[in-house]
Amino acid sequence: MTARRIAPSILSADFARLGEEARAVIAAGADLVHFDVMDNHYVPNLTIGPLVCAALRPHVKLPIDVHLMVKPVERIVPDFAKAGADIISFHPEASEHIDRTIALIHDHGCKAGLVFNPATPLVYLDHVLEHLDLVLIMSVNPGFGGQTFIPEALNKLAAVRRRIDATGRDIWLQVDGGVTADNIGAIGRAGADTFVAGSAIFGAGDYARAISDLRAALAGNQPSARDCDAETRGPGARREGMR
Ligand code: DX5
Ligand code: ZN
Repeated sequence: MTARRIAPSILSADFARLGEEARAVIAAGADLVHFDVMDNHYVPNLTIGPLVCAALRPHVKLPIDVHLMVKPVERIVPDFAKAGADIISFHPEASEHIDRTIALIHDHGCKAGLVFNPATPLVYLDHVLEHLDLVLIMSVNPGFGGQTFIPEALNKLAAVRRRIDATGRDIWLQVDGGVTADNIGAIGRAGADTFVAGSAIFGAGDYARAISDLRAALAGNQPSARDCDAETRGPGARREGMR
């Protein structure tokens, strides 16, 4: 069976206690730590950079999964590699030379991911998929935690899953935005194997319980009415049903 990974997004953590929060989600069963970098230019929000990544590194024994929502991308890649990032993902619209940025990330010893916004076409995979370690499908528009899952992401995940399987390579398929125990089952069935969750974990009082609820829903142990409903209604479904 394919590995299923839960990646808590520290965007929803208490930034005044970031090391403690990272250790808490790791103890609670996280598989990697998702690190959202926003620049108030590519996205309308401003978060954390390489200095914070380096400060967090000694607290995090798991892979640090850096999601760059910055433009331009290339100047900051070496800084994150030095700061201890394991995976660096970027948006194609933020790079003038996508193939070169992927190579730059690899040259710095990190795994490379390409991120697709809800309206970004998968055509950007055409000539680079085999060079990627991860494809990230955004199920919200990037910039903020706590938004509602956009159901069209299910179709997009299924399309990418087919493309990844056709390569025969172990390329991770990650989803990011609005993931909850109510929709993670449908998202897993669409083909995702790596699940970012911010508010669903950090917004819960008990992180271990929140992560085990996500895993249980993913394994189909707790099918929810809303989950089934969202799948059958398809891409035209209204977003409210996927909360
Ligand atoms: C959004 C970020 C996400 C965000 C997810 O731009 O990339 O990683 O933190 O948060 P939730 O799970 O609350 O939607
Ligand atoms: Zn993210």
